[in-house]
Amino acid sequence: MSQFLSFPTDIQSLVRFIYNSLRFVTVASTTVAFLLSTLLYFKQNSLIYPSYLPEGARTKVPRPDEYEISDWEEVTLTTPDKEKLNSYLLYSSKKENPGVTVLFLHGNAGNIGHRLPIARIFSEQMGFNIFMLSYRGYGLSTGRPCEKGLLIDAQTALEYLLKTERTKDTKIVLYGQSLGGALSIQLVNKNQDKISGLILENTFRSMRILIPTAFPPARYLAKMCHQVWPSETTLPKIKECPVLFLSGGKDELVPPDHMRVLHEVCVSPVKIFKEFPNGTHNDTVGEEGYFDTIQAFIQQVKKGKF
Ligand SMILES: *[C@@H]1O[C@H](CO)[C@@H](O)[C@H](O)[C@H]1NC(C)=O
Ligand SMILES: *[C@@H]1O[C@H](CO)[C@@H](O)[C@H](O)[C@H]1NC(C)=O
Repeated sequence: MSQFLSFPTDIQSLVRFIYNSLRFVTVASTTVAFLLSTLLYFKQNSLIYPSYLPEGARTKVPRPDEYEISDWEEVTLTTPDKEKLNSYLLYSSKKENPGVTVLFLHGNAGNIGHRLPIARIFSEQMGFNIFMLSYRGYGLSTGRPCEKGLLIDAQTALEYLLKTERTKDTKIVLYGQSLGGALSIQLVNKNQDKISGLILENTFRSMRILIPTAFPPARYLAKMCHQVWPSETTLPKIKECPVLFLSGGKDELVPPDHMRVLHEVCVSPVKIFKEFPNGTHNDTVGEEGYFDTIQAFIQQVKKGKF
């Protein structure tokens, strides 16, 4: 039993461990298979929320100063359940009211500091405010990640932006990558009159549908997965909010047909699908035309017309 108890914490070794274990399971007893599934069940949060990757992600969070960003604030949000979320608010480089604040909801690994090169394009080149939410259990924020908790975190960030001086008179646009996309969909659904636009990048239909393709060794876990992220069934409840779908055609983690299905089920009067044929899961952001597409979308949201 001891090798099971000293479970690896690093995701790569975890996945390798599961692969090896399953190869073993095919010749082993159902008891062993049951034990493994049970362990996986309790370990699923470290698969779904690898906030400890890359190494040092819980202690080293790059700061906007390191990117010579000058107009920004560190915002520590306190959630209703008392978690402290160490986030950044980058202000528009424009002197006049930028009209829009983007709420950036990142993917499941790393921390907000790793996304500063992306965020500064919004604030400096496009001229919008951008709030980088650090979820519970990520970067320097307290707590542990889970679906319910991340929903509280996103709601807390939204309410902050709706009342704080320099953002309260701007429209809110959500920008969600991968897991952050799933979170964005839930947040828009609960706050339909407060959010003016939704941008989704390489996100998935639901966690249960994703698991068997993203982590084949964990396919037995899919039905037991307690982290649901039901994007496919929630998105059709969003009636008005314009949605932009950014899909990497070479996404190796979330099969691109997840984005196509989400686009199909979306009933919003404005839904735009933009495919980047060479985009991979985390590098779609580097494809030509990526930020131009986003800027054109947000400009339309800002003007209130398409
Ligand atoms: C995709 O990559 C191929 C091969 O590198 C290149 O020829 C093509 O122009 C790229 N397409 C786009 C849309 O960038
Ligand atoms: C992005 O994905 C590629 C290919 O899957 C991988 O090689 C690279 O390390 C990833 N980058 C980050 C920042 O995770």
